[in-house]
Amino acid sequence: MSGGPLIRAFGATEHHEERNARAVTRWTTARFNEESASHWLVFMMQILGVSCTGIVLAFAIVQHLELSGQAEGDSLQEVSGLLGLALSYSLSISGRLNNFCNSLLQTEINLVAVERAHEYSTSLPSEKAEPTVALAAANTSSSLATEALVAPSSWPREGEVRFESVMLRYRPELPHVLKGVSFTFAGGESVGVVGRSGSGKSTLTTALLRLAEVESGRILIDSVDLATLSLERLRSSLGVVMQSPILWTGTLRENLDPKGAFDDEQICRALVEVQLAPSAPVAAEMLELEVGESGDNWSAGQRQTICMARALLRRNRVIILDEATSSIDHEADAAVQRLLRSSFKHATIIAIAHRLETILDYDKVLVMHAGEVAEFGEPEALAATPTSRLAALLASEIGQPTG
Ligand SMILES: Nc1ncnc2c1ncn2[C@@H]1O[C@H](COP(=O)(O)OP(=O)(O)OP(=O)(O)O)[C@@H](O)[C@H]1O
Ligand SMILES: [Mg+2]
Repeated sequence: MSGGPLIRAFGATEHHEERNARAVTRWTTARFNEESASHWLVFMMQILGVSCTGIVLAFAIVQHLELSGQAEGDSLQEVSGLLGLALSYSLSISGRLNNFCNSLLQTEINLVAVERAHEYSTSLPSEKAEPTVALAAANTSSSLATEALVAPSSWPREGEVRFESVMLRYRPELPHVLKGVSFTFAGGESVGVVGRSGSGKSTLTTALLRLAEVESGRILIDSVDLATLSLERLRSSLGVVMQSPILWTGTLRENLDPKGAFDDEQICRALVEVQLAPSAPVAAEMLELEVGESGDNWSAGQRQTICMARALLRRNRVIILDEATSSIDHEADAAVQRLLRSSFKHATIIAIAHRLETILDYDKVLVMHAGEVAEFGEPEALAATPTSRLAALLASEIGQPTG
């Protein structure tokens, strides 16, 4: 009941009580039918069992009457033994029938899960894990060898990100979300991406991570077309902190370093650097802390900070922050900005901004509007131009009471 206080605050108790009562009624109706059907089945099984026992008893009486006329003691004993056996089996028949039906029912119910798993694993379209564009110059058939050719292990070295007329839509029947977006972020530059809601800011991240494939145009990092890389290579080269950070069940150490590639000392240093732990010994104790399902035993701000530590640990050259500091208070936000400047000094930082003031001292600002690049340049110059979109966004933010 995590929403309880909210419901009371809005005075919607009565409405929710009614909804709850309706839901409970629907649940009980189904449950009542299920229980009735099951009791009916048990009753019928018992009738069947009783009938079997009755028939055996009838046979026993008939046999007894027939044999009692004759005086052969041996055959009487033999028949009564058989009848005893038949009776004891017939008495347990209703229980056995019940168990049989129950097992059949449970098997059928549980097989639905197998059916679902089969459906999800075979008929759902999945991402193209392999490169989507074959490299014409590569004279080797193995995609892994091709990948090593286009992107050696040192890639990305500079972290230059270039979009070339990128068009993207989420599904063929939907309109384009990115409409010919072109820009170049130089290596090591920090760029703030701003724009109205729905202007396509997060879609830039989607395109970079190839969560959705671009329809036309290219995205290059250090002159390597991302479509020529496998998803694993691509995604392990980018550090991403999303608005809803992804953590999984396990320990903090497993969440920071799922592949076990770093030693404790490195992980602790990263934890101290992102200020999740005050000192290395405390960080060492924290490594075994449990992370619950989707990390829900950590606050949203802490989860984002854990993702920052993950990016820090991998020393990625390109860091994408999608409204990464939206769940953090101003003080923690300022600390993250300091951290970005000190620890990710050489990395290209693409920050989709929640608070405009945080990106004003970035190297560049990209203003998105309706899926197109509206403005791209130095923040001071754009903010100083009264007709610019950035100036308008800043003015509207200052106008808001909460900022
Ligand atoms: N998974 C999706 N499937 C279909 N359409 C989507 C999907 N994700 C986003 N869109 C659409 O793409 C457009 C741009 O969305 P996007 O999330 O990039 O906006 P944004 O600039 O990040 O907005 P916000 O500031 O609210 O986060 C929106 O019109 C949205 O409806
Ligand atoms: Mg977004």
